[in-house]
Amino acid sequence: MTLIHSVDRYAVLGHPIAHSLSPVIHAAFAAQTAQHLSYEAIDVAPEQLGATFDRLPHEGYRGVNITVPHKESAWAYVQQHGALTERAALAGAVNTLAWRDAGGLLGDNTDGQGLLNDLQHRHGLNLAGKRILLLGAGGATRGVILPLLAAQPAALIIANRTVAKAQALVQLFADKAGQTQLRACGLDMLGANISDLGACDLAINATSASLSGEAIDLPAGTLAANGFAYDMMYGKDLTPFLKAQQAAGAQHLADGLGMLVEQAAVAFALWRGITPDTQPVYQSLRERLARH
Ligand code: ATR
Repeated sequence: MTLIHSVDRYAVLGHPIAHSLSPVIHAAFAAQTAQHLSYEAIDVAPEQLGATFDRLPHEGYRGVNITVPHKESAWAYVQQHGALTERAALAGAVNTLAWRDAGGLLGDNTDGQGLLNDLQHRHGLNLAGKRILLLGAGGATRGVILPLLAAQPAALIIANRTVAKAQALVQLFADKAGQTQLRACGLDMLGANISDLGACDLAINATSASLSGEAIDLPAGTLAANGFAYDMMYGKDLTPFLKAQQAAGAQHLADGLGMLVEQAAVAFALWRGITPDTQPVYQSLRERLARH
């Protein structure tokens, strides 16, 4: 039996998924751009992921977002059954799938572009020629390296507790670095690297330390006097990382709520061919977070 669906369907897939803000964000985008679509959250156990992907396009779904813990498995699925964008191929993870009438399944990763849009448009940072410190060497870091390099910073230092993981990422992206000095170091060697390269204009926390309430203390002088501290995590209050940077004197702080909205907007544009205005959606989410 073929089911006919009057609206294009979209969803976010994760496990767990109940607290995802993506349905709220995409409903707001759809209302704002007068797009007729549905978007829901679907809890998918890891062992069900492949079968779910097989099934969804036959049920009227045109695209999905992918969140924890499925981004890497979804990447592997697209490698077998579709095509990956370059940024997704290098990220080793996808956060957006699109089933297209012609061209089949496309896997993209919009996290890095979301981060760039947040930094450059919302926070007014110009990254060209700047020194950027990227903390962590897991999936969140890997997903944003290519877009950060595309902004042509003078230096991108990947600092991780386990130095070997940072070194592996530097090797992976070495031929994409262009004029940017791409370096790896252990968190314990950060001080030496900073005195060698100079203070950073931007420090981005892409570790999962904030999840467990842990801060990452940076050696004094890591961030330039007018530098910017950014955490990919977000919450009602400042994250532990941002609190630590504030205590150390940082004036410019931002959490990852803007990145969340921006990565969603890039996905929405891929699906619908129209880019929503993210600012009102960002503002209403910020107010919603403050209330909870
Ligand atoms: P994600 O996909 O969110 O990036 P991940 O792949 O598990 O998650 O990576 C978590 C990252 O946070 C790693 O870089 C990890 O450092 P290690 O590679 O040394 O494990 C980092 N991390 C987690 N907790 C941390 C902490 N308390 N201090 C410093 N780094 C931490």
